[in-house]
Amino acid sequence: MPQRRLFVTTALPYANGKFHIGHIMEYIQADIWVRYQRMRGHEVNFVCADDAHGAPIMIAAEKAGKTPQQFVADIAAGRKPYLDGFHIAFDNWHSTDGAENHELAGQVYLDLKKAGLIETRTIEQFFDPEKNMFLPDRFIKGECPKCGAKDQYGDNCESCGAVYSPTELKAPYSALSGARPVLKNSEHFFFRLSDPRCIEFLKQWTTSGAVQPEVLNKISEWIAPGEDGKPKMGDWDISRDAPYFGIEIPDAPGKYFYVWLDAPIGYLASLKNYFGKSGRDYDAFMADPAVEQYHFIGKDIITFHTLFWPAMLHFSGRKVPNAVYVHGFLTVNNGEKMSKSRGTGLDPLKYLSLGMNPEWLRYYLAAKLNAKNEDVDFNADDFMLRVNSDLVGKYINIASRAAGFLTKRFGGQLTHAFDPQGAALLQALRDAGACIAEHYDSREYGKASREIMALADQVNAYVDQNKPWELAKDEANNVQLHQVCSVLINAFAILSRYLAPVLPSLAQDVEKLTGLQLGRWDDGQDVTSITPYQHLMQRVTPEQLAALFEPPATPEPEKVLPGGEEIAPVITIDDFAKIDLRIARIVECEPVEGSTKLLRLSLDVGEGRLRNVFSGIASMYKPEDLRGKLTVMVANLAPRKMKFGISEGMVLAASHADEKSQPGIHVLEPWPGAQPGMRIH
Ligand code: MSP
Ligand code: ZN
Repeated sequence: MPQRRLFVTTALPYANGKFHIGHIMEYIQADIWVRYQRMRGHEVNFVCADDAHGAPIMIAAEKAGKTPQQFVADIAAGRKPYLDGFHIAFDNWHSTDGAENHELAGQVYLDLKKAGLIETRTIEQFFDPEKNMFLPDRFIKGECPKCGAKDQYGDNCESCGAVYSPTELKAPYSALSGARPVLKNSEHFFFRLSDPRCIEFLKQWTTSGAVQPEVLNKISEWIAPGEDGKPKMGDWDISRDAPYFGIEIPDAPGKYFYVWLDAPIGYLASLKNYFGKSGRDYDAFMADPAVEQYHFIGKDIITFHTLFWPAMLHFSGRKVPNAVYVHGFLTVNNGEKMSKSRGTGLDPLKYLSLGMNPEWLRYYLAAKLNAKNEDVDFNADDFMLRVNSDLVGKYINIASRAAGFLTKRFGGQLTHAFDPQGAALLQALRDAGACIAEHYDSREYGKASREIMALADQVNAYVDQNKPWELAKDEANNVQLHQVCSVLINAFAILSRYLAPVLPSLAQDVEKLTGLQLGRWDDGQDVTSITPYQHLMQRVTPEQLAALFEPPATPEPEKVLPGGEEIAPVITIDDFAKIDLRIARIVECEPVEGSTKLLRLSLDVGEGRLRNVFSGIASMYKPEDLRGKLTVMVANLAPRKMKFGISEGMVLAASHADEKSQPGIHVLEPWPGAQPGMRIH
């Protein structure tokens, strides 16, 4: 196959937080593909960058008391341990605030303008008069126009789920200053995506095989005519007013590109920056029609990448992506989808700091990933099973079972004169290469790993039939032992090559063991000798997993619980009104025979009759303490049949939740002036 020239990216993470395990999954998915393509001898340029711009980052920086530049630089400084730690081999890491991106974003915009696809329009927007800025939807709050819930965001209500525009909120306020926002006109720039040329192009591009079928389903309503005969695609507002952390629009002072305009251009900027560092010609590369461009992204950013981005590229006269590969979301232990900002569940750095092998995670994710936009769950038990029984049990063990005998008995030398069964086995392993390659190329890593483990099963069956440990008992079997162990090490080397995209560090150790180069996919050399066997991979322990999911070592300061218990969930005034509390006079009070806890009370709540109530307060009060006193009772509680008679209500009394360590129960008594029968509101 002729050498291909590839330009590959993952999505650019927002520079407002550390990586979470979802980011790492995306990088691992792309990294496996990139490593596979490199093994095929293709040229791969694999880049990423921080997505630095936008209002949320600007505001977060202000909160942290930093300039946005400093803020994103600090985030960028923390990226390396994650990338190195999980063996993610980006060629370059840049920032969308880099000089290349400022320049390229301006150029792309001017090219789109030349194509007649940029238009300005005046729109009305909420403006914070104290902060002196237009407010993004996320920073406007108020009462839901549908259900009246307070403190809802400008675009939808978390209480009733209604979707609306910020101008519909009741009593709106700025989440930044608390000020009441005012409506103000502003001129905005629009990319005319609804232009028939754009629709036509997108119809063609999206059906050219550039997106997965399930992704095409999702986006087709934007470009296929709806019930009214028109596609849903509207024009795209690509500008924001100062103050904004972003790239200023050429010839439009005070106007900035909306972050999602310059973010994908950051792919090009990172590549250009990479080429600049190594003295390569970026323009020549991008002008080469043979160059293929691929983006790995998550399912939440499909529209930006399969509609807006290809249109931006095409109509600015640039190369369009050959494909956008969409993956689903990673969840942890069946948890809900991790929040983008919090990314709870599995902390990647904690994983590494516990000494957990990054290649366990790479293998586990590979085993679960396919080419579809489907969610993937990290499940601790499943993880341990797949790593310990498959990876270590089936694959690593092949080497550990054979290497010792070769070193001790044959000076580390292998024979090439295999037994017929062994030779056939090695041939079968080599023959499977094309199929496994196809799975990697189409991102069906789950299928690839199943295929490889099925081969490992065949090898283990050969081990069980030939029992090297039995052969080793009698020197007369030396020739056969030598053959079997040599076959096993060769089988191990073949499987290691197949797993190298997933387990790059292990592949290096296998290179040291076998003296082979495993960097090329089809390089069918036999192993001639081995170095003494060193442990290649440990098993996962339950202790490690327990520690991984244990809450942080420094526990949250213990919560102060008033009265020993949490305040009950909020109720409405209507809920409260259901409880009829009345002032009651304790007309009579007496002990209850057969009970040390209860007193029997006769209560007057002004109904012209007395109520009979049992109350568990005998430990604190003698009948004479209570007789004649006023208290509070629940007057509309359903009567309850007790061992000693019917209780027609309940007297209010206070106690600590932990009755054992903090005993005591205290009956309520109203202030002077209250009369029996008065309701408590
Ligand atoms: N900055 C934008 C992307 C701009 S690309 C020009 C962004 N950043 S992000 O940090 O929120 O997400 C970066 C990538 O991580 C996206 O592809 C996103 O789908 C992916 N993931 C975020 N959470 C994820 C999981 N829980 N699981 C898998 N991928 C997830 O969006
Ligand atoms: Zn609502």
